[in-house]
Amino acid sequence: MQFLGCKILGVICGPAKNFGSAYPHLPVLAHFMKLICRACSDRCTIPAVVLLLFLAINVPVPTAAAATQSEIEYGLYLSKAGNCMSCHTRANGDQFAGGVVFETPFGTIYSTNITPDAETGIGEWTLQDFAMALREGERPDGQHLYPVFPYTSYTMASDAEIAALFAYFQALPAVKYRPPENDLGFPYGQRWTLGMWKSIYFDEGRYVPNPDRTPEWNRGAYLVNGLTHCGMCHSPRNFLGATDEDLALTGSTYTENVDGKSLSWSSTNLTSSNNGLGLWSVEDIVSYLQLGVSSRAGVFGPMNEVIASGTAHLTQQDLRAMAVYLKSLAANEQENDSEPDEDTMRQGSLLYDIHCGTCHLPTGLGSDTTGPPLLGSPVTLAADPASLINITLYGPRLPRVAPSAEWEARAWQRMDSYAAILDNEEMAALSSFIRNAWGNSADEVTPKQVAKQR
Ligand code: HEC
Ligand code: HEC
Ligand code: HEC
Repeated sequence: MQFLGCKILGVICGPAKNFGSAYPHLPVLAHFMKLICRACSDRCTIPAVVLLLFLAINVPVPTAAAATQSEIEYGLYLSKAGNCMSCHTRANGDQFAGGVVFETPFGTIYSTNITPDAETGIGEWTLQDFAMALREGERPDGQHLYPVFPYTSYTMASDAEIAALFAYFQALPAVKYRPPENDLGFPYGQRWTLGMWKSIYFDEGRYVPNPDRTPEWNRGAYLVNGLTHCGMCHSPRNFLGATDEDLALTGSTYTENVDGKSLSWSSTNLTSSNNGLGLWSVEDIVSYLQLGVSSRAGVFGPMNEVIASGTAHLTQQDLRAMAVYLKSLAANEQENDSEPDEDTMRQGSLLYDIHCGTCHLPTGLGSDTTGPPLLGSPVTLAADPASLINITLYGPRLPRVAPSAEWEARAWQRMDSYAAILDNEEMAALSSFIRNAWGNSADEVTPKQVAKQR
């Protein structure tokens, strides 16, 4: 009996040793297989044979639908591109367990638990349920989801991508956590009203390549408008939260919620206009999105998260495609409504020389060892000056964890906060000056706009 047992085990032990790497989603069985192998090489015993026979009957044969390791890895990559982490993980909370707060004009919305917990997460969901949520904004029970969840962009994702994302999320550890209930004013708390919103503003559908453009451009267009959803923050929205196609990616206002306090930011123009990426090269854009720094700007504020848990993980090829697409967007120049008078420019110029000129230089061109240029700076020139005011009032809110070694090694000097040094009048004059010096051109900034950001 012992002899026969050993023969059987000998045949099976080779494959059994590799079981762990072939079926990483069956760790318990892999462990059993290892035990058998050990029994096999030590000394064959009848119990080992019994165990083997028991396993032979009970090992589930992986079906065609089971996710492979490479599919799960691809899903991980896509989850970075889609930056699911930023919105579904609370500060100090479990990964993907949800509960992140979103202040919207309609009220307070909390992100959901997307770990595979059966009760509080998406453990019971099928691939179809998941696809419906990501591409159509609909829950398995037919309820509509709020477009804070960027399904209006994810709708472009392909079947293969949705399947990979699903495989990745189902392979995560389940976390039991139920986020707080949404707190929305009437009628917005009624999810059925979203059905009407969707019928007017939401076009469901996959990305359709433009045959007149290169594959690289199409890849970039898909990533920017689809998975990486830059437009969610960078495209203006109407009072019902819908984006206007013609003004896509021309800059907008974004309200963030940190520690219960909300602060409004302006997102910049991403077209090739003078107040957008006009002076940025493809390399500048790639470097900024990958490393958090380029010769044109260093990351701070809301872009910290976008880069750290999103674009920093993308391949060079994907980032290049995004940059090529962005650089191809027709410049959307914005008309100015106001211009600072001479007195304001004089006052602003003086303040600039005292407080800013050492790093951004009298020419506004900055230098490798002092600070980035303010000439053609998207943050400086955004139609809404909120981000310019924020960085001057509070200093750049830098990433807590360095996004790259290159960012850490940047030789620029550390910019301070000026809230305690400059009053609203002075801050307005200074901002108006840098927005209209050296060839820059943008609306005047008023003390009231500064007061709003304090
Ligand atoms: C900009 C923030 C944001 C990003 C990015 C985001 N989500 Fe969400 N997601 C939300 C919010 C908020 C909700 C809840 C919406 C609601 O209650 O109607 C949600 C809901 C969901 C739901 C529905 C769950 C349920 O129980 O109804 C799924 C599934 C989901 N997200 C998956 C993902 C995946 C996968 C990604 C990345 C590819 C992702 N989300 C990226 C904010 C986001
Ligand atoms: C959560 C909202 C949000 C998302 C999503 C987002 N941005 Fe931004 N972006 C901002 C805000 C706000 C600013 C201005 C303040 C700052 O830099 O943080 C900005 C600034 C920028 C700047 C100018 C940086 C500078 O310092 O001059 C670039 C370039 C940029 N974003 C590119 C992108 C791209 C490309 C994407 C998509 C991958 C993207 N952003 C997604 C909010 C966002
Ligand atoms: C000691 C050097 C220093 C001084 C002084 C300084 N800055 Fe900065 N500034 C920086 C650095 C460095 C950055 C980039 C953030 C980083 O990577 O640390 C920056 C970024 C900026 C940006 C963002 C540009 C963009 O497009 O991303 C603006 C706007 C800005 N500074 C305005 C000002 C103003 C206005 C003053 C004067 C009140 C000032 N700075 C004084 C070093 C300085």
